[in-house]
Amino acid sequence: MNRPVMEGLRLNVPAYVKHARLVAWVAEVAALTEARDVYWCDGSKEEYDRLCAQLVAAGTFKKLNPELRPNSYLACSSPSDVARVEDRTFICSEKKEEAGPTNNWMAPAEMRELLQTGSAALFKGAMKGRTLYVVPFSMGPLGSPIAHIGVELSDSPYVVVNMKIMTRMGRAVLDVLGEDGVFVPCVHTVGAPLEPGQKDVAWPCNTTKYIVHYPETREIWSYGSGYGGNALLGKKCLALRIASTMGRDQGWLAEHMLLLGVTSPEGKKHHVAAAFPSACGKTNFAMLIPPAGFEGWKVTTIGDDIAWIKPGQDGRLYAINPEAGYFGVAPGTNTKTNSNCMDSLQRDVIFTNVALTDDGDVWWEGMTDTPPAHLIDWQGKDWTPKLAKETGAKASHPNARFTVSAINNPALDAEWDNPAGVPLDAIIFGGRRSTTVPLVTEARNWVEGVYMAATMGSETTAAAAGQQGVVRRDPFAMLPFMGYNMSDYFQHWLDLGKKLEAQGAKLPKIYCVNWFRKGDDGKFVWPGYGENMRVLKWMLERVEGRGQGVENIFGVSPRYQDLSWKGLDFSQAQFEQVTHIDKAAWRAELDLHAELFTQLAYHLPAELTAAKAKLEERLAA
Ligand code: OXD
Ligand code: MN
Repeated sequence: MNRPVMEGLRLNVPAYVKHARLVAWVAEVAALTEARDVYWCDGSKEEYDRLCAQLVAAGTFKKLNPELRPNSYLACSSPSDVARVEDRTFICSEKKEEAGPTNNWMAPAEMRELLQTGSAALFKGAMKGRTLYVVPFSMGPLGSPIAHIGVELSDSPYVVVNMKIMTRMGRAVLDVLGEDGVFVPCVHTVGAPLEPGQKDVAWPCNTTKYIVHYPETREIWSYGSGYGGNALLGKKCLALRIASTMGRDQGWLAEHMLLLGVTSPEGKKHHVAAAFPSACGKTNFAMLIPPAGFEGWKVTTIGDDIAWIKPGQDGRLYAINPEAGYFGVAPGTNTKTNSNCMDSLQRDVIFTNVALTDDGDVWWEGMTDTPPAHLIDWQGKDWTPKLAKETGAKASHPNARFTVSAINNPALDAEWDNPAGVPLDAIIFGGRRSTTVPLVTEARNWVEGVYMAATMGSETTAAAAGQQGVVRRDPFAMLPFMGYNMSDYFQHWLDLGKKLEAQGAKLPKIYCVNWFRKGDDGKFVWPGYGENMRVLKWMLERVEGRGQGVENIFGVSPRYQDLSWKGLDFSQAQFEQVTHIDKAAWRAELDLHAELFTQLAYHLPAELTAAKAKLEERLAA
């Protein structure tokens, strides 16, 4: 194989790399970015430990007290780089209509000029003074027919160690790729070149950011951010935006969904997928511990953020989690809200933007009822409870995260790594809504379910930069993650359902939930967390054809007596508060559905307009 050696830069290609196209591409990107050198990641523990030590020496990581938090680190980012940047995220398909009205779009040639080819292209010289890391990764079990391989070229060692946890990463991926395997090329730079002698900062990044996807050529180019979904390109960029276009072309679904197993005391197991927008409790739901009154029930985690769903030979929908770890929101996580998660975080964790305790451990808002007397906050400043009371200063950033391997999770499902996936019995869609949307509704059929998912609204959270707490439509919880036109995506869901129904297949039931209704006092009425098991059990009884419910305007909902209340003091009046349908609020809600449909008019499926008309009729009756 021809191994290009570039002037002043050795590509350092290991002998085991056999893929000429990959090597040529690495050479091309190294030349464009003027990286100082190239390092091929093998994914070993030794490599992980070495890079973590390097990050400690650079000031990016603090090693936590090994007695309290073994093998764990804390990174604190630049305050300008703390969340996904949706307004800087682009889908560069050839035609604007292909990206659709919910995505930022630029013509590929124009974007390439801006990033790669123009005289002032951003990637030109962007890695000066830095190492270009070659990060081969597999989304999905290594070598499985449903997995997809990506190679991320990044100048961030922070990205490398996070990718090691979040994906199957390293040499074994290149072995699977062989001499000519297909991979999604992903290029990432923090956009902070170093001139000779220039001292690096702890969190290099750039105020200019571009998170760019070329769906036709299946490429990802990310500039200027080192954080989360902007930089760990296997996650949102590949496993959702690019994979959603693959799914459209190949007849499957890439979804922003957790996956869990529920086993009854009799040993019967069901599998459920659930889509919630970012920071709305997917990780908590995926690791749910059944509450008092549910002795003998078991919930196990398959995934907490992304599901790839494909029809199996029997026509049922099977789902896998393409990830290998969790990049979850830390604030609010504690032994009461998610004890499995707290157990997962006892060791081997990378924390980002949480606070540091005086004894070298971490703390975040909501971890304990009483905060420590003194902390170093996520921006390196002294923090005390008194200061927080006076100024509202947060010790950790509201979008502070942990990165941890799935195998740390004590509730990990035995099937989590099964390349065949798990058959889905139910799919749940849920937004964060203080008002209007009831606790749970079952769709009467697939189209009604797709309508519920398509029109879902949710209050925005800190997971994305921008205003928080405003209701926006977030169809399928995929608004920030769609790789193509949203209306075509709705049609894809409808077509898949129609095709499987025509084959006589058993489709999963679809539910819409809202754990977040608030009372007049502004407090959540529904206790949530483990208590969501009560709703889950009702859904599975419905799947089995035993659960009772009543039809309403939107679908089928349980009456008070249809849920199991053993172990919880929740009155009928409180139940009424979380299930009540306010017709005036729903008329206003339907106006918002109409607004969405106007925005998505191009290719909007007629079935959805018809579903809306039926809903309006029922509301008026
Ligand atoms: C995530 C997100 O990081 O949805 O999972 O923002
Ligand atoms: Mn997510």
